[in-house]
Amino acid sequence: MDLVIKNGMIVTATETYQADIGIEGESIALIGKDLSGDETIDAKGKYVMPGGIDPHTHMELPFMGSISADDFRTGTIAAACGGTTTIIDFAIQGAGQTLREALDIWLEKAAGKACIDYGMHVAIGSMDDDRMAEMGDMVEFGVPSFKIFMAYKGSFMVDDETLYRALLRAKEIGGLITVHAENGDVLNYLINKHVAEGKKEPIWHALSHPPEAEAEATHRAVVLAGMTGAPLYVVHMSSADALEALKEGRSQGFKVYGETCPQYLMFSMEKYEEPNFEGAKFVMSPPLRPKGNSEALWKGLASGDLQAVGTDHCPFNFVGQKDMGKDDFSKIPNGMPGVETRLPLIYHFGVNEGLFSVNRFVELVSTGPARLFGLLPRKGTIAIGADADLVLWDPKKKHKLSKENLHMNVDHSPYEDVTVTGYPAVVLQRGKVIVRDNKFVGEDGAGKFLKRSPIHL
Ligand code: URP
Ligand code: ZN
Ligand code: ZN
Repeated sequence: MDLVIKNGMIVTATETYQADIGIEGESIALIGKDLSGDETIDAKGKYVMPGGIDPHTHMELPFMGSISADDFRTGTIAAACGGTTTIIDFAIQGAGQTLREALDIWLEKAAGKACIDYGMHVAIGSMDDDRMAEMGDMVEFGVPSFKIFMAYKGSFMVDDETLYRALLRAKEIGGLITVHAENGDVLNYLINKHVAEGKKEPIWHALSHPPEAEAEATHRAVVLAGMTGAPLYVVHMSSADALEALKEGRSQGFKVYGETCPQYLMFSMEKYEEPNFEGAKFVMSPPLRPKGNSEALWKGLASGDLQAVGTDHCPFNFVGQKDMGKDDFSKIPNGMPGVETRLPLIYHFGVNEGLFSVNRFVELVSTGPARLFGLLPRKGTIAIGADADLVLWDPKKKHKLSKENLHMNVDHSPYEDVTVTGYPAVVLQRGKVIVRDNKFVGEDGAGKFLKRSPIHL
């Protein structure tokens, strides 16, 4: 063995047991007792878990007149420090582009910069017969998941025919359609109305994105998925009513799955009323919801009604980016940082608070995303032959999630005063240590593009 992780408590989505892990090259070669190798890492007192998989990031995203502040280098270093070893980002088809052209632009942004492994989804901006054919090429190339924006009228939003055609095609080719589910026409009306009435403070962002508009779009996407028989994954679910629409679809036997994000679990819409424009830090779509919604989302994670936690990591600096909307909420770039804090928050507020087991935690942050997005069994579990992407998790380690203790390239932390218990001690990617004691020690740009398998859920 090149490397042995000794004395750790292995935690997968289904099992917890004490054993050593033997690594040869980039993969797990042996799991057993008393293994020896050229090098050893002592994991006594630590959980040894599969590296986190974040299925929803936006590095270097040009959006609302700005560009999200993390590039693939800074964003993936931050991800690694928080225990995530794989991200799936979104290539977005611009006007007049083929899907392949869009994908190539994003592959170029990531190549040589990403410090952890990465996959890509492709967001469909227009759909004709050629693009439908091209979806098959994407799956063959290892990009089996697609995004449909039902919101952001005038930029990313597409119509229901596009969604319906994408679902039909996805069913044929082993694709998975992901949706941003909000009724973009209704939001557009409300945003314009409120701005025209001079209602321009950050709270009006939330009041222009009502939960009903999310629930309606979720219901619509779920019904279309049911009609086509295609699988559907609803990203960044923020409200109890949207979750009900998803549950209803599942109860009818539709293959519909849902993700939420830590920000919707941690905060409610009162944040938008903080003084000094602080609420702008939380302006994203969907917005934070009235109290009560996050409790429903936590329950959904515990019960299995929600299948994954992503981050929708899309950071903008408070100074120089968020303040573009100082006088008008509709000009505040939408998005929040989160790629580094996902595992610690879900562990602390989910496992430590007794809402679910450490195995369910692994399912939500790693195995579930791997299964849903065509990465299992290479990623997302601890098994012979899998990539040795491992987190040695110290369940006793306390960490304050303040800006100076984090690596994301953004001028604030939404969790400035939050101290969690449970944090990565060591992180490995493909058998190499890339993080030790909150410092990235891996090789710059060593992340690999992951060709994912077709998805049959
Ligand atoms: O506000 C958000 N969520 N920004 C990122 C783009 C998206 O909608 O996922
Ligand atoms: Zn979205
Ligand atoms: Zn997003």
